[in-house]
Amino acid sequence: MSSIAIGLRENKAVRLWDSTNGKKAVMAVSGFILFLFVLGHMLGNLQVFEGPAQFNRYAQLLRTLPEGLWAVRIILLIMVVLHIVAAVQLALRKRTARPIGYAKRKPIGSTYASRTMYWSGPIIFAFIVYHLLDLTSGNLNPNFIEGDVYHNVIASFSNPFVSAWYIFAMVLLAFHLRHGLWSMFNSLGLTHPRYTPALRRAATFFAVVIFLGFISVPIGVLTGIVK
Ligand code: HEM
Repeated sequence: MSSIAIGLRENKAVRLWDSTNGKKAVMAVSGFILFLFVLGHMLGNLQVFEGPAQFNRYAQLLRTLPEGLWAVRIILLIMVVLHIVAAVQLALRKRTARPIGYAKRKPIGSTYASRTMYWSGPIIFAFIVYHLLDLTSGNLNPNFIEGDVYHNVIASFSNPFVSAWYIFAMVLLAFHLRHGLWSMFNSLGLTHPRYTPALRRAATFFAVVIFLGFISVPIGVLTGIVK
């Protein structure tokens, strides 16, 4: 490919990133990839109900492909960075467009979930950092045993405060996903008045399924179903 063609393509990518619509598209695509991970992770976690052997085998299986695991980790990290940088830049642009806030703010046409995006996002990020230190590295889990993922999950969720923190984070994640999925359809221009109610229902459906799937683990441990 000639250097002119490469230059033109790079220019187009920079112009897209600079535009508000481009940033919204970046948020939509990165958000969708993170959503796929969250859905897969929630489904994988449900194997905890099949007992320690099955759950640890599943966790072990992920480690038998170290290159694949690291490739996924790096992609997820890039998606998280893009998602956060685009969100912060869009928020700053919005503020520059209206430097003085409304005297009395009365939300019109926005849902509770859409108004919480900018604070649920940082709390979910803080949760992910805590979660990695709890169940991946074990720094915050006093009973952590390397490689015994089932034991680590039980050790963590047996503490009701830890379970409550996870459940609280999952409530925020559900709100974030519901609005995020809906915005994604909008940003990618996938909406049509005829399909709007169905798309809204689909976003709510996935948010609720992911919420119930995730909280079933701490609830399973606290109720003794998962021992
Ligand atoms: C109650 C809910 C959750 C449970 C029980 C859970 C369980 C786990 C466990 C057991 C691991 C360690 C896996 C291993 O070391 O093999 C893990 C890792 C991880 N979890 Fe979760 N998780 C939950 C929610 C979430 C959520 C909501 C997110 C993201 C929004 C998330 C993101 C991650 C990430 C990024 C890793 C590290 C994967 C890696 O690179 O090794 N988890 N989770």
